[in-house]
Amino acid sequence: MQRRHFLHSVTLAAAWTALRPLSPARAAAPPDARQRWQELLEYARWAPSPHNVQPWKLKILSATRAQVYYDPTRLLRHTDPTSRFTITGLGMFVECLRVAAGPLGFTLTAHPAPEPQLNYAATDLQLFATLELAPSPTTAPATDRELIRQRKTSRLHYDSRLIPAPVQQRLTAVAAAYGHTLTFSSTKFTVDFVLDLNRKTLFTDLDDPATRTELAGWIRTTDEEAATKKDGLWSHCMGFSGRLMHNFFFHAERFRSAWKRRVLGQVYKHSMHGTTTVAWLQGPFGRRPDWEQAGAMLQQLWLEMTRHNLYLHPFGSVITNAEAYAQFCRHVGHCAESEPLWLLVRLGYSQEPPRSFRLTANDILC
Ligand SMILES: Cc1cc2nc3c(=O)[nH]c(=O)nc-3n(C[C@H](O)[C@H](O)[C@H](O)COP(=O)(O)O)c2cc1C
Repeated sequence: MQRRHFLHSVTLAAAWTALRPLSPARAAAPPDARQRWQELLEYARWAPSPHNVQPWKLKILSATRAQVYYDPTRLLRHTDPTSRFTITGLGMFVECLRVAAGPLGFTLTAHPAPEPQLNYAATDLQLFATLELAPSPTTAPATDRELIRQRKTSRLHYDSRLIPAPVQQRLTAVAAAYGHTLTFSSTKFTVDFVLDLNRKTLFTDLDDPATRTELAGWIRTTDEEAATKKDGLWSHCMGFSGRLMHNFFFHAERFRSAWKRRVLGQVYKHSMHGTTTVAWLQGPFGRRPDWEQAGAMLQQLWLEMTRHNLYLHPFGSVITNAEAYAQFCRHVGHCAESEPLWLLVRLGYSQEPPRSFRLTANDILC
């Protein structure tokens, strides 16, 4: 009897909810804070980061305020000692939140923490920026946020097609809007030079035990490990067998002989087949605000490339290795100190690459 009464009242309540007109106040009520930020996070968690370290955490303060923290256990102490590339990645994450907030009618303002770089001595979460959402004053069409989920790094073969001039111009304009210069080259001389320089530098860098050890911590050589940890560089995305990558990183002594290194170099070279264009970014990259801004720009640039079905593959070693950097600068003429070169990529059209894993929104929420 009691049970019937309960069902009856539930049915009545459901009917009342369905029939009742929504009052204006109720229709305009903001969604629950967690629901709103979680919606934005479902996009931003797909932001790229060096070695897919995903250092970000999000703490919700209210429906319009949140804080981004970084996890000191996810930093690259040896290979990114100034934290400039990790901050660039955090800037990309914030930009993804901004893009995702657009269709909800919000602009996002980030108030960065004052420290000039990330704190490598810390053991607990550190504040990166406080975020504020405010109603957008404009109705200008925003960047399509679905591009955030479509964007991927492609380390596959490219199909040799050149990038049409209008697309190049569009991309150059995106970079210029943030004060950066994007330069393309499709001359075989330069493309071959860059591919060769990147390959040699990568292998030289990996001969350094400290570099190899840090990178080894982010290598995921089985599908199970990649799916469980949901971060790092999964061999499947790198285009190599997990076994080969495991041996290369954890049994480096097996790759000392010249012929093995030659074969490995050839395999790596072959993976770049069909590359006909390289590009590089120059611009302010000396201080923390520059790195945050560069991240915002790179995210927008990468989304614009995605809109044109263009893929890219960064060549970080050439930037971080001083000798390789100098060689590249000599090749292109010079690199002004005021306009340092901070990103070098190959780019073009490829099949759809595999999707790398990501932490879930729940993993990221504090
Ligand atoms: C600042 C920055 C530097 C990167 N450098 C490299 C690089 O040197 N080599 C590389 O293969 N990928 C590089 N990547 C790509 C990341 O490894 C990649 O974004 C990450 O693994 C997630 O994969 P996804 O882009 O396919 O989502 C870089 C990404 C960022 C944001």
